[in-house]
This record gives sequence, structure tokens and C-alpha cells, in this order.
Amino acid sequence: MATDRLISAQATPQEEQINWALRPTDISSYVGQSELIERLRIAIAAAKQRSEPMEHVLLHGPPGLGKTTLAHVLATEMGSGVTATSGPSLARGTDLVTALQRLNQGDVLFIDEIHRLPIAVEEFIYPAMEDFRIDLTLDSGLSARTVQIKCKPFTLIGATTRAGLLSSPLRSRFGIVHHLRYYTREELLLILSRSAGLLNMGALPAPAATMIADRSRGTPRIANRLLRRVRDFAQVRHKGVVNADVVEAALSLEGVDSLGLDELDRKYLRTIAGTYRCGPVGLEAIAATMNEDSGTLEDVVEPFLLQIGFLARTRRGRALTRAAANHLGITFIDPDADPAKSTSLFND
Ligand SMILES: Nc1ncnc2c1ncn2[C@@H]1O[C@H](COP(=O)(O)OP(=O)(O)O)[C@@H](O)[C@H]1O
Ligand SMILES: [Mg+2]
Repeated sequence: MATDRLISAQATPQEEQINWALRPTDISSYVGQSELIERLRIAIAAAKQRSEPMEHVLLHGPPGLGKTTLAHVLATEMGSGVTATSGPSLARGTDLVTALQRLNQGDVLFIDEIHRLPIAVEEFIYPAMEDFRIDLTLDSGLSARTVQIKCKPFTLIGATTRAGLLSSPLRSRFGIVHHLRYYTREELLLILSRSAGLLNMGALPAPAATMIADRSRGTPRIANRLLRRVRDFAQVRHKGVVNADVVEAALSLEGVDSLGLDELDRKYLRTIAGTYRCGPVGLEAIAATMNEDSGTLEDVVEPFLLQIGFLARTRRGRALTRAAANHLGITFIDPDADPAKSTSLFND
């Protein structure tokens, strides 16, 4: 299944536990995202001076970049507790009310996948965010009345992979809205060296660490996962010795290539190349040919291919780029120079 991929940025439940151990807990060990960290440090210091909770924060960006981690780090910095929940698990207004009433002064309420918060629940969140107040409507019809319940001042931290799906009233109630970036090689190397220490692997030789970093798709969660695969492989086949050859062997056994692409990415690219002459072609057609779900392709395969310039999304559909063709070792067909496609504008 697509979600079981080694290079998937999504976490599996078993993995969440291991991740927990690898998670930085204070702001100084949180690697990268420097502009965001700078903004947050100021917000924290200002809030502390005023003895108020920190402003509400919305973090958005692809999975595995450290949104959940950062929410916990922020609570630690504020010296406050965290209640973690998610959009889908707050199915009714009362679920949110219960969560809000349990908060202590200055606590963090972390809502993951906040774009999946039901609209009925959103209505409760507005007065809570603005005035730390919950408006409850009792009874219905003519006898309906609204009672207001106070909740303790708190900080809402929302996380989402799909900021575009958030309603604008909700979005506008966050004081700080920030997009998390993919990590650079240097940042991933820092994370890997810290994780290797925590996993008792000792210091990684630089070429081996760089090889893992370069196959991690700019994503800490993937870096940590590849590191664990390398650790297993080294332990079973090489008496625990990790070097570039061992990393190469471990990761090619897993089907991860030099850019971090796996079998599913390559199948996707080859489908566009082989069946659709490098595109442009609609996502649904690709999904049908591959016998995959189009939503899965859009969420887990395409973002990284777009990021590295292997895929172009045009009005007429998805198209392969020359760089992708070079990487796969196939002949590039330029859609603008392909006579077979000159009429496709009118066929769409
Ligand atoms: N900035 C960072 N510094 C160090 N490790 C990180 C960082 N961001 C993420 N990680 C690692 O990646 C894993 C996944 O991060 P997580 O916060 O769960 O991502 P998200 O919530 O964005 O999907 C964490 O368990 C942690 O080990
Ligand atoms: Mg998360």
C-alpha cells in the first residue's frame, strides 16, 4: 500500500512511539525553521512579560516536518501543559467544550489536522479563541437561550497539511500563521547525528550520514526512519558497522534511490512517460492506469516530485520534466514539440 512506503512522510502508529524518543523537547534542540523559531521566541518572551498565554499559532506544511514536535516544544517553553487532539476527533461541539474546560491557565490546546474540524465545531472555537468564552445554546425554538461559559486563557496551536482547506474566519483568528519548509542537507545532518546518538549508533561517518540526508526528501521523519533501517541492516549484516557502502546497500534493498524516490514514485513517473508520452495528462487517468487512488497520488507522491522539479502541473494536466526523464534514463518528449499532442488542447 502506498501509505506503507519507507519514504512516506506519514507516521505509522508503532513509529510514533519511537519518534517520541527522537523528538527534541526544548527549543534549542529543534533544528531549522529559523524564521519561524525567531518569531516564536519573540512571541513567547512578550507573552511571558505580560503574564499572558502566547498567541494562537497555525502551523502548516507537508507531513513529517515537525509540526507536532514544535507544538510540544512551545508548551515546554511556556512552562504549560498540552492537550493534544485532532480535527476529526472533535466530532461535536461538546467534544470541544469538554476539552476547553479541562485546560488550565495558559495551557496549549493542540489540534492536529485542523482542516478537518467540522463546521459546527468551528463556531464554538471562535469566541473561545477571541474572548476565552464558550457560547452554548440551550433548548431550541422559542425557549432557546444562549449561556456563556468562561474558559481559562489558553493558546491554540493548529497544524494542517492542507492550509487551503481552512476557512478564512478560522485562519484569521491565529496571531501567527507559518508554513514549515523542507529541511536542508545541513539541517538533516544535525538531526541524524542527534538521532544516531540517541539510538546508540555512535558517530556516523560523514559520507554515510550525507547519503541518508540526501535520500530523506527534506523531511526529518523520513531521515529518522531511513536511519533505523540502516541501523538494522548494519546490525544484522555488518556487525553494526555503518559506512557509505552499508547505507547504499541497505537503502537500495528498500528500493530507495539516490534522490529518495521509491518504487511508487518511479512507477508514477514511468506511467506518465510510457503510457502518456510524458504528458500532459489528467491525474485521474494516471491513477486509473496505475490502479491507485488519485487522492493518495496527490497527497503522498506528487508534492515531492513537484518540489524537486520532476513534475509540472499545468492547466492541461501533469507533465514530466526533462530532469525526471534524465533521472529515469528515458527519452524526454517535449509536449510543445510533439506533433502527436498539438491537438490535445481541443480534446480536453
Ligand atoms: N526540527 C526538528 N528537529 C529535530 N527533529 C525533528 C524536527 N522536526 C521533526 N523532527 C523529527 O521528525 C519526527 C516527525 O515530526 P512531527 O512533529 O511528528 O511532524 P509533523 O507533525 O509535521 O508530521 C519527530 O518525531 C522528530 O523525531
Ligand atoms: Mg503531526
